[in-house]
Amino acid sequence: MIEAKSLTMVYGNGHKATDEISFTVRAGEIVGFAGPNGAGKTTVIKMLTGILKPTSGTAVINGYDINEEPLKAKMSFAYIADNPDILIRLTGLEYLNFIADIYEVPENVRKDKINTLSERFGMNDVLNSQMREYSHGMRQKLMVISALIHDPPAWILDEPMTGLDPSAAFELKQMMREHAAAGNAVLFSTHVLEVAEQLCDKILIINNGKITTEGTLEFLRLNNPGMSLEEIFVKLTGR
Ligand SMILES: Nc1ncnc2c1ncn2[C@@H]1O[C@H](COP(=O)(O)OP(=O)(O)O)[C@@H](O)[C@H]1O
Ligand SMILES: [Mg+2]
Repeated sequence: MIEAKSLTMVYGNGHKATDEISFTVRAGEIVGFAGPNGAGKTTVIKMLTGILKPTSGTAVINGYDINEEPLKAKMSFAYIADNPDILIRLTGLEYLNFIADIYEVPENVRKDKINTLSERFGMNDVLNSQMREYSHGMRQKLMVISALIHDPPAWILDEPMTGLDPSAAFELKQMMREHAAAGNAVLFSTHVLEVAEQLCDKILIINNGKITTEGTLEFLRLNNPGMSLEEIFVKLTGR
């Protein structure tokens, strides 16, 4: 379970990027966090995952407050950042082993995980090359594999489909559905509505740092009769 509790972020330059953001992603749910560029999605996700300390408010992941019990909280979720260009001098395999070490994944378990996940994303053949030789999509796929290596219950994914080729995007969506169906919480951000439409049980729309709408796609449609999801989104975000 993922809970955002009144998350407010005022950046050093005085810019209030998010204003009292609260929501819950329950076990078994896939929730899409949608909003235009600059709306505040990444800021919220960085506060949920303990990368940014909120100006006020907090987050609780699987019962652990991210600011009070950060290690326990962090062990219990997978996080995919919005930018896969890190540690690119390492080979894919070195990176995966590094992450597996951090999360204390035992040798035999990690071998299995790396094999299965690399197979699923067609990455086995490139694991011994340095990540700086990878395309953006390959780096993104490696980030997905590394995020899932410790098999955590909650998934928090910042624009996970960006740069993925259609078959990798298909695999990831399928995995998100399987993960939620197995009773886990999945939160992902997107500025692409189609992705939200295909996946979510519930959608949160954020605009200018505030949640403007929260509900099922059905609820959105009922409240905006005759409009496509795209039209509803444009209406709700004022663009
Ligand atoms: N480190 C920072 N310092 C100041 N302003 C920031 C910083 N990071 C993001 N912002 C601003 O906060 C707002 C929200 O950004 P962000 O959370 O990245 O939005 P999104 O992920 O929805 O595109 C934007 O106006 C952005 O320019
Ligand atoms: Mg972002």
